[in-house]
Amino acid sequence: MGQPTPASHHDDWWRSAVIYQVYVRSFADGDGDGTGDLAGVRARLPYLADLGVDALWFTPWYLSPMKDGGYDVADYGAIDPAFGTLAEAEKLIAEALQLGIRTIVDIVPNHVSDQHPWFRSALRGGPEQELFHFRAGRGAGGELPPNGWRSQFGGPAWTRLADGSWYLHLFAPEQPDLDWSHPAVRREHEDILRFWLERGVAGVRIDSAALLVKDPRLPDFLEGRDPHPYVDRDELHDIYRSWRAIADEYGAVFVGEVWLPDSERFARYLRPDELHTAFNFSFMTCPWDAERLRRSVDETLAEHAPVGAPATWVLCNHDVTRTVTRYGRTDTGFDFATKAFGTPADLALGTRRARAAALLSLALPGAVYVYQGEELGLPEAEIPLDRIQDPMHFRSGGTDPGRDGCRVPLPWTAGAPHAGFGGEPWLPQPDGWPAYAADRQAADPHSMLSLYREAIRLRPAFGDGPLTWLPARDGVLAFRRGAGICLVNLGDTPADLPAPSELLLTSGPLPTDGRLPKDTAVWLRA
Ligand code: NOJ
Repeated sequence: MGQPTPASHHDDWWRSAVIYQVYVRSFADGDGDGTGDLAGVRARLPYLADLGVDALWFTPWYLSPMKDGGYDVADYGAIDPAFGTLAEAEKLIAEALQLGIRTIVDIVPNHVSDQHPWFRSALRGGPEQELFHFRAGRGAGGELPPNGWRSQFGGPAWTRLADGSWYLHLFAPEQPDLDWSHPAVRREHEDILRFWLERGVAGVRIDSAALLVKDPRLPDFLEGRDPHPYVDRDELHDIYRSWRAIADEYGAVFVGEVWLPDSERFARYLRPDELHTAFNFSFMTCPWDAERLRRSVDETLAEHAPVGAPATWVLCNHDVTRTVTRYGRTDTGFDFATKAFGTPADLALGTRRARAAALLSLALPGAVYVYQGEELGLPEAEIPLDRIQDPMHFRSGGTDPGRDGCRVPLPWTAGAPHAGFGGEPWLPQPDGWPAYAADRQAADPHSMLSLYREAIRLRPAFGDGPLTWLPARDGVLAFRRGAGICLVNLGDTPADLPAPSELLLTSGPLPTDGRLPKDTAVWLRA
């Protein structure tokens, strides 16, 4: 693979890209301290090029006390020393591009770290108080929070300071929310965008993109009353229009983290002068069920079409249960509210389905996200209680296992200490992790890694056209795009394959009768 043609010739690379999510802390440890870092990523760039991905999305790599895995940013202009330096990030961006791989950074505009200079100064009574939501409490002595909003991690969304005042945090107390009605907050984020766009990044992921703007009266949330005091407020669109103008100067693209049940409201973020793309969480949380998946695909395509934005297809990320575990459970959907310790999973079944789901998502029209370790078929790990780090676990009162189980450091080399990750990993790797090691899978043509490599290599067979469903019996998904046909059997009995057609790839062995077994997908050339 050579250098990519100049961006001007590839303006719409993002419409059909395969984008690999790097959770830096757990990807590869270059300096042996047990924490993944930029040196580790640089050393593994050839692996990513072999996998065939078009871009890397890096979860936040900035200076951070890591109270929420880096989503608590203390300085956007500095790389956290545990990960490396700014100069190294610049090298990484350039080296990746040499291999044809673009870089997407993650911006967290809703909140900062409580160690950010703005919040520190605000706590000392500085004028930066205006940049956050400080309020007096309710009750005779102000002992009750200003309103009843709940943190997304559980517990109240307010913390009281020694001086009796309260500040708002929709996530952890170490993540105070910014006040987006203040012009300095807008200016600062425009500067942050330019800072990273000047360094050659091709895209920006926007964290919690629908939460930034709050009703200035901070009223309580009442079920059914519109608009919501802090979710999906109309004022957000003006912010994203100004961001879009900046991105356009650099030919860069956005992907928004927009969790909204209403598809019309969701699509508003994707209007031509706003965000280019947003994550498809309805597909990501959809159970392993042919009818539900087909509906999810149809709804996705229908909601994107009017605004001309491409869909994205996501099976998992750093916040949710890993796919092979989820698909191996009785309830194959995902919901934060029902996460529990000790949920049984049949990993062999989950792996078969995850392989089929990989072929399904890679054949659909749009961009596909692959979360590190998904290509290795890693299961969700059970983290020993005394090693859990995720604030979601602690703020749930200990009932939610948290998100560490999908963030365990990757296994690279089966025979090496810590499966080749580097030093003693910051989160423990389960027994059996070496069996998933990349080196072992690279040598096995039937491994999950080989399947992903092949699928990404063959994906162009589907072209860039629309999807047409083919007639299929219940439990089977069958569609055609370009010269490619994708069939997925989610039913209980084997399904017939259309003839005549050339077999491109299958997610599992095909029996000699040539029929498609259950929980298996196949790619054919028509
Ligand atoms: C969404 C991110 O994906 C998650 O990891 C983080 O905890 C929250 N936003 C808060 O930044």
